[in-house]
Amino acid sequence: MDVLDALMTRCSIRRFRRERVPREVVNKFLQVLFRSPSAADARPWQFVVIDRPDILDALGRAMPHCDMLLSAPLGILICADPAREKIPGFWPQDCAAAAENLLLAVHGVGLGAVWIGLHPVPDRERTVRELLKVPESLVPFALIAIGPSAERPTWEDRYDPSRIHWNAWGVHEPDARTS
Ligand SMILES: Cc1cc2nc3c(=O)[nH]c(=O)nc-3n(C[C@H](O)[C@H](O)[C@H](O)COP(=O)(O)O)c2cc1C
Repeated sequence: MDVLDALMTRCSIRRFRRERVPREVVNKFLQVLFRSPSAADARPWQFVVIDRPDILDALGRAMPHCDMLLSAPLGILICADPAREKIPGFWPQDCAAAAENLLLAVHGVGLGAVWIGLHPVPDRERTVRELLKVPESLVPFALIAIGPSAERPTWEDRYDPSRIHWNAWGVHEPDARTS
């Protein structure tokens, strides 16, 4: 799948078939995560791969509105490791970039995924920290549930030219001189 197609067709998947994701595919996802952009290339992250159904079930039962974990065969937790930052304050953006890279990689290999936001929701952060034994120095940032899709993807055109401004605020057409 070409990158533009991947970007245009990705959508969240919340029901999966619990079929094992091959280890080489998981390894590819982990490679992709480390290719994500980060401020000053600090890579202020750590990842927890969850491929045990009993642990995915425990997470899905412990957090409201996280039923997707009850059918997912794989989860990847993105934790921030703020001590690795080179420019303080950028870790949420760095971790979000990693999360998006992962979503696109998953879609690119024909699987489905959904981003489960953990930070800044204290209950979710605490639950994941406890169940996965995440050290206090790290921040559970997002949990990506991954697997073969068991639902029909929903796609909508969200393009909104009224929110695009060309060269200055409020100008909704490109400048004739650059067209
Ligand atoms: C920061 C963030 C947190 C999210 N948290 C959740 C979540 O907890 N549960 C969920 O079902 N979807 C979650 N999502 C997925 C969004 O609901 C989804 O991306 C949005 O509705 C747009 O749909 P799409 O991904 O299909 O384009 C989250 C997405 C982001 C970026």
